[in-house]
Amino acid sequence: MKKSSAPGKIILFGEHAVVYGRPALAVPVTQIHVDVEITDSARKGIWIHAPAINLHAELNTLPSDHAVASVFNNLFFLLRVSPFPNLEVNINSTIPVASGLGSGAAVTVALLRALSSFLLRPMSDDEINAFAYDIEKIHHGTPSGIDNTVITYAKPVYFIKNQLIETFTVSVPFTIVIGNTGMPAPTKESVGDVRTLWEADKAKWEGVFDEVGELVKEARRNVESGKWMEIGGLMNQNHDLLKEMTVSSAELDILVSAARKAGVLGAKLSGGGRGGNMIALVESESAESVSEALIRAGAKSTIITTIK
Ligand code: PMV
Repeated sequence: MKKSSAPGKIILFGEHAVVYGRPALAVPVTQIHVDVEITDSARKGIWIHAPAINLHAELNTLPSDHAVASVFNNLFFLLRVSPFPNLEVNINSTIPVASGLGSGAAVTVALLRALSSFLLRPMSDDEINAFAYDIEKIHHGTPSGIDNTVITYAKPVYFIKNQLIETFTVSVPFTIVIGNTGMPAPTKESVGDVRTLWEADKAKWEGVFDEVGELVKEARRNVESGKWMEIGGLMNQNHDLLKEMTVSSAELDILVSAARKAGVLGAKLSGGGRGGNMIALVESESAESVSEALIRAGAKSTIITTIK
């Protein structure tokens, strides 16, 4: 039997602009995770059980571009596995789907780890990350690679597309409350819409992405030097720029303003936007009351997490 797991993630700063080469900061969220368990099966085939997405099926009955099936098919092709073994594969996830918390990348990473070890061909983190990025490309159009990177290495990352992975140090831990709008929103669509805007006026949007990039660099300096309280204002500015990119939504804006009314240091949407999750920077003693304020304002769930 082989088991593995992968955490969720949030993007602290820089989503969308990261697709255009600007830096972004992302951190793992270990309270939510995907756990995979693989055992030999007495029956023929590869039986996949993923209750969170109501999936109970044999691999061959799934379309080949199915998010889970494509991990098996591509890995077996790469490792030249033939014939396929008989397996029971259990995928348990506590990461909400399509909400900017990295559920897809976490399934891919956890599955690759468990499968490659089960086949006695364990992959290094670098191999897992590269492979997971290829899978993300199948499902997300033009992903930057930030999700698979932060989830594979499970460390805070300062991410620039196509550059060597840079982790960063959080010198003084800080608390984030994550609020879920409960509205699933496919990242592919918001990324595509930002691309349409950019294509219509590249000069304007390059300027906006530059502004985001500057916020990200300043945020990193503050987090590394322990001045975490300073990043609240930067989060508010980043949210405004994301609104300009049209990737916020009424639900996200309601939660962001409810958080600000509850006295947070800063708040913004996190991830692809249009739904999914927002994040708020809080002093740890007010985390519970902010979480309650978000629920009162319509959040379907909240997570309180310490970034360290
Ligand atoms: O997977 P999400 O929803 O957290 O979004 C990823 C961040 C984007 O910048 C919107 C897209 C990308 O590929 O970087």
